[in-house]
Amino acid sequence: MAERIVLLPGDGIGPEVTEQARLVLVAAGAQAGLEFDFVEELIGGCSIDAYGTPLREEVIEACRGSRAVLLGAVGGPRWDEMPVAVRPEKGLLAIRKALGLFANLRPAAVMPALVNASALRPEIVEGVDLLVVRELTGGIYFGEPRGREGEAPASTGEKGTRRALNAMVYEEHEIERITRVAFEQARLRRNHVTHVHKANVLDVSQLWMEVVDEVAKDYPDVELAHQLVDSCAMLLVQEPKRFDVIVTGNLFGDILSDEAAMITGSLGMLPSASLATGGFGLFEPVHGSAPDIAGQDLANPLAAIQSVAMLLETSFGSDVATGPGATRAAAAIRKAVADVLDAGHRSGDLLLPGETRDTVGCKRMGELVLDALGRD
Ligand code: IPM
Ligand code: MN
Repeated sequence: MAERIVLLPGDGIGPEVTEQARLVLVAAGAQAGLEFDFVEELIGGCSIDAYGTPLREEVIEACRGSRAVLLGAVGGPRWDEMPVAVRPEKGLLAIRKALGLFANLRPAAVMPALVNASALRPEIVEGVDLLVVRELTGGIYFGEPRGREGEAPASTGEKGTRRALNAMVYEEHEIERITRVAFEQARLRRNHVTHVHKANVLDVSQLWMEVVDEVAKDYPDVELAHQLVDSCAMLLVQEPKRFDVIVTGNLFGDILSDEAAMITGSLGMLPSASLATGGFGLFEPVHGSAPDIAGQDLANPLAAIQSVAMLLETSFGSDVATGPGATRAAAAIRKAVADVLDAGHRSGDLLLPGETRDTVGCKRMGELVLDALGRD
């Protein structure tokens, strides 16, 4: 039976990277005995253009009826002037909320071939392998009350009365469930969790501290450290190897995962999984829609392709029938990506400023991964 996958290519480079990722999914899936049935839907700016809203209820329903969702990226300058309630990004936030995708896993591992592509020194980045576990459906992204009030100055020289407000709100149960995900992930890795917070200022962070400490009692085999977010930002650059699993709230996780990504050489490399209770997931590259290079076949599809590896592993890996094949297929994709990079192929984002060497486009990079997959 074909497995239903919803594709949400979105805006900018989203469609080009998603197409390469889809082709890799088909090929790797076939090797694992999996067959897919793809349904493509709109999200973000393209959905605003077509329907006046970044996410329709029908799309959420289609996702609910699927085994997994593969998303590209949303947003672009065309929609930048719109109020936050109807911007493309609202589609992404709404789908996370509607599907209950509270656990965002963002692995940042440095591939040996890319040790010199990082802006940091090779000896600092070599061997970095960390996982940001970001809470994705709470915190300041969704807290109420929120909004704007007051008036802009009526004429020059006058004072305005504008005020804007967002609230960082976390319920105990939200903190507990994401913390459990982090500790479970640590058990599959190096048994270390760093909880990142701002408890010297925020009440919310103090609650996180308490709940994380309580949950930690159930995982005596996993070591726990608490780290202030500002010093964590510094340590990520100074000594990234000290981190295994980082667990944190929505906003800190957003910022730190981009920082972690750059340690690995490029934001163009990093995949992510956003999971609900029970394991249903949406998979997407961490990078954005890169409107400046959209439609020019310049994008790096490797983040989307590695998101497909996470999809296979997470959505099919624990299934009795499909599990072993899907897990092997995910490993085969990762090896194919490493082989392509080891052979010296690079997309433009993987070059350092001033570095000159031939680069490959989005399609060609996808083909190279498919070729490498076929050789195994
Ligand atoms: C991300 C993105 C989104 C976020 C934006 C596009 C809403 O930056 O997935 O990290 O802030 O969560
Ligand atoms: Mn982000």
